[in-house]
Amino acid sequence: MSTETPRRTFAIISHPDAGKTTLTEKVLLLGGGIRSAGTVKGKKSGKFATSDWMDIEKQRGISVTSSVMQLLYDNKQINILDTPGHQDFSEDTYRTLTAVDTAVMVIDSVKGIEAQTLKLFKVCRMRGIPILTFINKLDREGKEPLDLLAEIEEVLEMETFPMNWPIGTGKRLKGIYSIPDETVEMYNEDHDRIIKPYKDVTTLEDYERENLEGEISLLEEAGNEFTIEKVRNGSLTPVFFGSALSNFGVQSFLDQFVKLAAEPQARKASGDFIPPSSPHFSGFVFKIQANMNPNHRDRIAFLRVCSGSFERGMEVTLSRSGKKMKLNQSHSFFASDRETVEKALPGDIVGLYDSGNFEVGDTIVGGGPKIQYEEMPQFPPEKFAKVTAKNAMKHKQYHKGMEQLVQEGTIQLYKTPYFEDYIIGAVGELQFQVFEYRMKHEYKVDIDFIHMTHELARWVTKGKITDQMTDSRKMLVHDQQGRSVLLFENEFALRWFQDKNPDISLSTGWEIL
Ligand code: G4P
Repeated sequence: MSTETPRRTFAIISHPDAGKTTLTEKVLLLGGGIRSAGTVKGKKSGKFATSDWMDIEKQRGISVTSSVMQLLYDNKQINILDTPGHQDFSEDTYRTLTAVDTAVMVIDSVKGIEAQTLKLFKVCRMRGIPILTFINKLDREGKEPLDLLAEIEEVLEMETFPMNWPIGTGKRLKGIYSIPDETVEMYNEDHDRIIKPYKDVTTLEDYERENLEGEISLLEEAGNEFTIEKVRNGSLTPVFFGSALSNFGVQSFLDQFVKLAAEPQARKASGDFIPPSSPHFSGFVFKIQANMNPNHRDRIAFLRVCSGSFERGMEVTLSRSGKKMKLNQSHSFFASDRETVEKALPGDIVGLYDSGNFEVGDTIVGGGPKIQYEEMPQFPPEKFAKVTAKNAMKHKQYHKGMEQLVQEGTIQLYKTPYFEDYIIGAVGELQFQVFEYRMKHEYKVDIDFIHMTHELARWVTKGKITDQMTDSRKMLVHDQQGRSVLLFENEFALRWFQDKNPDISLSTGWEIL
């Protein structure tokens, strides 16, 4: 792929089963980025997702790690960052969203907004990135389109602007009307793409025309005003209807996506905004993955290029430590095939071979001032467990494994003044399983877990916690940076604590940068 092609880097956010994988697959097919449908995921066919590197993923048929896919469409290089698709998703999903410029939110038209969509949406909102919405499964009897728009506006507090409008749904699905050009993409069993001017469509019943025209005029009168600025600052989401499985509306979506998605933006580092056009190369590590390929027992740091250009073999400085290094081994990923990257531009993701130099959140610069991109936000964990090694004789490997896996961001580590055991925290249960698996297979240590009943973590930003304020239901712990964190069993315990201790200020962690 030409290195001068403009980049559009995005991730798809959705609740499991909304159709993220199917949409990704159809988009990749349109860009010629994938050879056959089913390569992205084929649970039933025995094939696995492009990102299924780890055995644990294969055993469970789920995607744990994030992979990066590329396609060329409309003279743009589109980088898709895949995110774990499982319900027990993890911090990887959140971190991946720090490396993209746009998010595509897939919503199941039957179910509307679901829990995980909402969580992921919050991360996008925090970063103020543009969100394009694809309302999927139009071939099923779903919620009313107007109700779906109202749900997005109410639950996500974001304006909507439909780019197309369904004519019927489920068995009565006739097509989608493109609002800007007054054409209809006709739905047909053969999944052929047939587009006709609305006035030439002869197959609509009178009531279908009345419904469509009534709804369109309602949208024109009462709908939101569309401006590209609102899209770019994340306050308005363009909404597309379609069916990924039937490949219906996907190309129209992609045609608009390349126009609406944001190009790589200036990013905040050391108090300044660094534009992608800066002559100096810079980027940050948003993810570290060990043992991506069992044949190459290695660690790969995923770097988002933010400014300048990356060239293989270049000398760079790690801002955190000032250490200089030559980046000779750089890869791009498509499934488990890796290709050596010679050059990469802002918006690109490069996999760097890592012998233990990098941490999640690290900034790398090539020449120019030593800058540090904004730290990864602290993602509040929702699950906690006490851990110990089953065999006390293995304490050396246990501590080494713990240290490395925490450094990679596999889990979060906490200590409490009340007992010796480590407490680990995670955004999703799956992180515990990955942790256990990797401790066993990479460090040869069997782990004992005791799941804790706490579900909420709050960082103490003001005031001092005394022993009288804590008990088993609200436990004081310290994070890796030594900050005080209170773990609560539920919202009720949190509220009760706040009522009793008005002088203590607590933060969810999102705001701690
Ligand atoms: P995910 O990555 O968001 O978890 O969703 P995925 O694409 O795997 O889709 C979840 C299920 O929904 C799949 O069915 C898929 O075929 C189906 N699906 C996706 N898009 C559409 C659509 O536009 N219309 C309809 N009717 N179904 C759709 P499955 O049977 O659970 O899995 P599979 O065995 O087909 O992979």
